[in-house]
Amino acid sequence: MASVLFVCLGNICRSPTAHGVFRQMVQDRGLETQIHIDSAGTGGWHVGSEPDNRAQAAARRRGYELSDLRARQVSLSDFERFDYVLAMDKDNLRDLQRQAPAVYHEKIRLFLSYRDDGSIAEVPDPYYGGEQGFNHVLDLVEEASAALLDTIAARL
Ligand code: 4NP
Repeated sequence: MASVLFVCLGNICRSPTAHGVFRQMVQDRGLETQIHIDSAGTGGWHVGSEPDNRAQAAARRRGYELSDLRARQVSLSDFERFDYVLAMDKDNLRDLQRQAPAVYHEKIRLFLSYRDDGSIAEVPDPYYGGEQGFNHVLDLVEEASAALLDTIAARL
C-alpha cells in the first residue's frame, strides 16, 4: 500500500486535477486497491467546494472526472498518513515544510520533480488566467503522474 497527497493553494484547480488524473492512471493499471490518493490546499478559503468549473471542463475534455472531489485544507495528520506529499509550486512546498514536523520533511517534494524533463519546476497557478492555463496544467500533471506511477508501482 502507498498513499499520495497532492497539494496546492486552494485545492480547487491544480491539486484536484492531479488527483483526478493520477486516480485514472492508477485505475487503468488496476492498482486502485494498492494506492490511496487524496488532495488538499494549504489555504482554507474554498473548503467544501468542488473543483473550479474551468478545471473540471478541461479535465473532462481529456476523459478525467473531477466532479466528486471536494476541497479541504491540509492538516497535521496528513504528514503522518501519507507517504508522498507533493506540492504544485515552491510556495506550497515552503508552506508544507513550515507546518510539518522535521521527521516528515523527506515525504514532501515538488510534484514536477518526478517529470522526466526537469526544465519546469512548478505547476503554474491557472486561477487568474484563461482556458490555456488549465490545459497547460493538464499537460504537466499528465507527464508527472505517469512518472510518479512508474516510481510507486516499482516499489509496491
Ligand atoms: P489552486 O488555484 O491553488 O490550483 O487551487 C487557486 C485557487 C484559488 C485561489 C488561488 C489559487 N484563490 O486565491 O482563491
